[in-house]
Amino acid sequence: MIDQLYRKAVLTVAERKPIEHLIRARGWGLAQRFVAGETIDGALKAVKDLSAEGILSNLDLLGEFIESPAQCDEFAQNVLNLLDAAHAQGITPYVSIKLSSVGQGKTEGGEDLGLKNARRIVGKARQYGGFVCLDMEDHPRVDQTLAQFRTLVGEFGAQHVGTVLQSYLYRTEADRNALDDLQPNLRIVKGAYLEPESVAMPDKADVDAAYRRLVYAHMNAGHYVNVATHDESIIADVKHFVLAHGVSKDAFEFQMLYGIRRDLQKQLAQEGYRVRAYIPYGRDWYAYFSRRIAERPGNAMFVLKGMLKG
Ligand code: FDA
Repeated sequence: MIDQLYRKAVLTVAERKPIEHLIRARGWGLAQRFVAGETIDGALKAVKDLSAEGILSNLDLLGEFIESPAQCDEFAQNVLNLLDAAHAQGITPYVSIKLSSVGQGKTEGGEDLGLKNARRIVGKARQYGGFVCLDMEDHPRVDQTLAQFRTLVGEFGAQHVGTVLQSYLYRTEADRNALDDLQPNLRIVKGAYLEPESVAMPDKADVDAAYRRLVYAHMNAGHYVNVATHDESIIADVKHFVLAHGVSKDAFEFQMLYGIRRDLQKQLAQEGYRVRAYIPYGRDWYAYFSRRIAERPGNAMFVLKGMLKG
């Protein structure tokens, strides 16, 4: 409950324009702890640096205020450019996209623009042997995202496209069961949006318990799981579970956000687990940065101290 109040307070303050102007003007140096760079080259450098430490990457082009169909197409084109650049530098591309950024919910020529652009992106990723994960957004988008995921798996195969389930939503266990026939590659997260209590569990203990159940159910079903959390107690429990149930180390991976728990990322990689960092990059870093601050009071202190230092 306190977690929820803190998160709400930070996100409300972050939405105030004067705060946004101040942080945009003075905060880039601080944001670089969580955002790999403003350009493709910066992002690909981060991929190479992490690779030298045995850590895989998942690239995420940040975007805000992408509203018109032309802006959605432009955003999709920027993701296609990223795939080309990664391939040209010998990197097998693994990217995440938000379907809203590429036009989900907008119809063009009788077709959903988000699905149309996602096809272009997943098609190109497949051409390069890569992978696209459809991030999960707030709850009104879940039905459409899962339906479009099903369509894309049908067209491109589950080796090239995956999606995300959020343990804080009451519906999620049923959603996981309903996807089983696709043998899907799923990223399990707790959930990052401010959701009403009618759809999402308000208590962290319930969200954590649901998280474990989802990971174990997906492993028991024999499908690939991306255990995306920084929660050490969950990570320890997953390690025990895989040992006890003979789940092979190539049937799952741990995923964490760039710049968060770098120590733990390295340690898990050294222990022989597959670890992937989610690397956001791009000029629109402000909203992403605010969400990371909202997750943890320690991060707000880090920003305040940095801003006071000038
Ligand atoms: P929790 O919040 O319980 O934190 C556990 C511990 O981790 C904390 O005590 C702290 O030590 C550390 N920690 C967590 N956040 C931190 C931070 N910002 N800074 C420093 N330490 C921190 N959400 C969503 O709704 N849709 C999505 O598609 C995705 N995608 C996604 C990909 C990946 C790779 C990750 C890791 C996360 C997401 N998320 C997401 C975000 C997710 O829903 C959630 O908000 C964050 O991961 C924080 O929750 P934790 O699981 O880390 O646990």
